[in-house]
Amino acid sequence: LEVNWNTESAMKNGFPHFMLKEIHEQPDALKNTILPRLVKGLPDFTDDQIPDDVLKNCNQIHVVACGTAMHAGMAARALIEPLLRIPVSVSIASEFRYEEPLVDDKTLVIIISQSGETIDTLAALRLAKHYGSKTLSVVNVKGSTIARESDYVLYTHAGPEIAVASTKAYSVQLAALYMIGCRMAYVRECYSKDEARDFMKELLDAIPAMEAMLEKKELVKDLVSHLIQKPDAFFIGRGLDYAFSLEGALKLKEISYIHAEAYAAGELKHGTIALITDQVPVIAIATQEKVFSKTISNIREVKARGAFVILLTKENAQIEKGVSDIQINIPDINDSFTVFPIAVILQLIAYYASVGKNLDVDQPRNLAKSVTVE
Ligand code: G6P
Repeated sequence: LEVNWNTESAMKNGFPHFMLKEIHEQPDALKNTILPRLVKGLPDFTDDQIPDDVLKNCNQIHVVACGTAMHAGMAARALIEPLLRIPVSVSIASEFRYEEPLVDDKTLVIIISQSGETIDTLAALRLAKHYGSKTLSVVNVKGSTIARESDYVLYTHAGPEIAVASTKAYSVQLAALYMIGCRMAYVRECYSKDEARDFMKELLDAIPAMEAMLEKKELVKDLVSHLIQKPDAFFIGRGLDYAFSLEGALKLKEISYIHAEAYAAGELKHGTIALITDQVPVIAIATQEKVFSKTISNIREVKARGAFVILLTKENAQIEKGVSDIQINIPDINDSFTVFPIAVILQLIAYYASVGKNLDVDQPRNLAKSVTVE
């Protein structure tokens, strides 16, 4: 008898790496996180035991997390703050824990953690409680320390995430945060019932848009040849697109070891554009109508200095020829939800760059899945 598989390859379900498997699991992870909490089209946290009072009676939100989870917080902030018209701040947990943060009993502190065990995030949670804030954690691992110690928990249902580089946990964190934002908008009367329902409908529309991006794997696989020979790459965008860029750059650094930086596109001219020379790869994200023409002008500026531009935009975007070298289109969904298909593309770029460099995709050097020591 010859057994030519092992538990690990069986767990990969036919995919060469856990990361690729987990990227593909995102549409289901989103459905598992959203659908059980959808009651008559509205987000409903009764089963999660999160009372509306907590969402209603705060005058600011402070989000605290590390790494990818913090980037989910940055994207959620860009959406939720203008929606609720209350201050929403995002802190890196290792900074927050040693600051004297301006949080109090009227602050809702949202803690985001896939593992629920990250030591800095846990310390931040304890500090927030010390200041009397209400704490709501968005956690993937059931019964983890952060989940146990928080006042309220909204579990994401991504299932186990094995690859060190987080993918599906990021998307479900965003979905959970978007649902919190929507429920808050509804109970605080920033949204009517119909507006809240429309928001949730549009969130669900992001799922097929993500699936469509998985079909573009081969395109992404081909384009990484423009990245893997280069020492640096830049990710640019404005508004929500900037928040997505941060995660795109982190993913690329983590697993391909290419130095990558994310910049708010309008900030390039204050220094970073000096680094843009012939053939420097720039991944530009332009999905936000409000700042679209501004982002396109910034892309022209880097292109004029010789950058190799990979543009991620919506399929209906009106763009003249010559703005980019490669263009990848996402479906034409509402601007607030473009993060979901964009995340898939950014994850695939990092994944194929790592594969193209023959690196250990699932276990990158110096990194751990869960950082439980300081
Ligand atoms: C580590 C992981 C990252 C993760 C971060 C926060 O650095 O490598 O992928 O984003 O920790 O982890 P958490 O479990 O708190 O979300």
